[in-house]
Amino acid sequence: MSPKTAVVTGATSGLGLLTAHRLVQSGMNVVLVGRDAARLATVTAELRGFASYTADLSQRSQVRDLAAALAADGIRADVLVNNAGAAFPATRKPRTAWNAPTPSTTTRRSC
Ligand SMILES: NC(=O)c1ccc[n+]([C@@H]2O[C@H](COP(=O)([O-])OP(=O)(O)OC[C@H]3O[C@@H](n4cnc5c(N)ncnc54)[C@H](OP(=O)(O)O)[C@@H]3O)[C@@H](O)[C@H]2O)c1
Repeated sequence: MSPKTAVVTGATSGLGLLTAHRLVQSGMNVVLVGRDAARLATVTAELRGFASYTADLSQRSQVRDLAAALAADGIRADVLVNNAGAAFPATRKPRTAWNAPTPSTTTRRSC
C-alpha cells in the first residue's frame, strides 16, 4: 500500500514542526508549507519532507496559489493539518465586581 500524504501548514516551528516530524516518522509523505523560504528549506531537508511550498496564508491570493500548485503537482492530501497561525497570550481582564476575589469567610481561631 502506498504511503498516505499529509499537508502541514506552519510546519517550520512549534506544533506544526513537531506534527510534521511525527508524521514523517509514522511513514507518511509529508508536504511542508511555510512562510519563510530559507527556514522551510532547512526543515524540509532535516525532516526529509516529501515536498515543500512557500505561502503566506494570511494572503488569500497565496492560499489560492498554494492550492493550485498542489493540484498541478498531483499532490492529494489524505490529511490536512491546518496549523499555521499564532497564539496570543490571553489579555488580562480588569477586575470588576463579577471577577473580583471573593473575600475569605474563613476565620482563624486563636488559641
Ligand atoms: N502554542 C499554544 O499554546 C497554542 C494554543 C492554542 C492554539 N494554538 C495554535 O496552534 C498553531 C501553532 O501554534 P505554535 O505555538 O506552534 O506557533 P508557532 O511556533 O509560532 O508556529 C506557527 C507556525 O505558523 C506559521 N505561520 C504563522 N503565520 C503564518 C502565515 N500567515 N502564513 C503561513 N504560515 C504562517 C509560522 O511561520 P513563521 O515561522 O514564518 O512565522 C510557524 O511555522 C497556531 O495556529 C496557534 O494559534 C497554539
